Amino acid sequence: MSEDFSSGCAFVDGAYVPIGEARIPLLDMGFSRSDCTYDVVAVWEGGFFRLDEHLDRFARSCDCLQLSAPGREEIRDIVFGCVRRSGLREAYVEIIATRGVPRAGQRDPRLITNRFYAYAIPYVWIANPAQQERGLNLVVARAVERISPRAVDPTVKNFHWGDLVRGVFEAYERDADTVVLLDHEGHVTEGPGFNLFAYCRGTLLTPAEGVLHGITRQTVLDLAARERLPCRVLRFDESLLRDADEIFLTSTAGGVMPVVRLDGEPVGDGTPGPLTSQLRALYWDAHRAGPWVTRVDY
Ligand SMILES: Cc1ncc(COP(=O)(O)O)c(C=O)c1O
Repeated sequence: MSEDFSSGCAFVDGAYVPIGEARIPLLDMGFSRSDCTYDVVAVWEGGFFRLDEHLDRFARSCDCLQLSAPGREEIRDIVFGCVRRSGLREAYVEIIATRGVPRAGQRDPRLITNRFYAYAIPYVWIANPAQQERGLNLVVARAVERISPRAVDPTVKNFHWGDLVRGVFEAYERDADTVVLLDHEGHVTEGPGFNLFAYCRGTLLTPAEGVLHGITRQTVLDLAARERLPCRVLRFDESLLRDADEIFLTSTAGGVMPVVRLDGEPVGDGTPGPLTSQLRALYWDAHRAGPWVTRVDY
């Protein structure tokens, strides 16, 4: 009987397995020490979106952490292999490089053979289309701040989510959908799986520092440049959020997601703003055809 990959397909130890059967060794330091990096790329209507940019970011992340991973062409083959086997037209595709499993008593990270994993599962939404139509209720975390970029470089995609998960609990306690964290000086950074934008007095603003350089963030900046919309990437004081006519969040897992309430107060008129809706439409249009799409032959 052939294997059933319809819930997703993983690549582990050089073999493709159904996602429900994929396992990592308990002693992999990616798990026990968060000593790993990853990337996530979307497949939409049967095409990868900005695959090259995701592979570039992953290669840089591996370099920064002194992790080795398969070569670019091999990773391409693997992610196509996962998506093809799953048959998914809309997929969330993750690649992970971990430090690996140390020999008994071994402490020196340089001596451990690194491991590589990949998988494709059905597309993941941070906020689903119905929630996006309504718009999200966002809070600024008060109980937790973002881990210092001097401790964990946020431009290297990582699993150090302790602060972000505490923020999610705070959001739920405050009857909100999600949360954005400030740095130790009170500047706005990012949230659990997304970057943030605000539209203030005709200019689109997004934090420069303390954030992952999201591919969706870059896509919004590219689309805004195409539309000749003024943009600034800046140190983002919290007061800018209070001034904003519109706020939205960006992620590979959900695209451009409107925020309609901030700390319980309406943003603009309390409905998804016109610029946000326009950018959201342009974002999904760019997934259907054009230079950012790489088709999968199933
Ligand atoms: C902490 C963090 N910031 C931002 C993002 C958005 O990045 P991208 O647009 O590349 O998905 C993510 C995505 O997972 C993330 O984990």
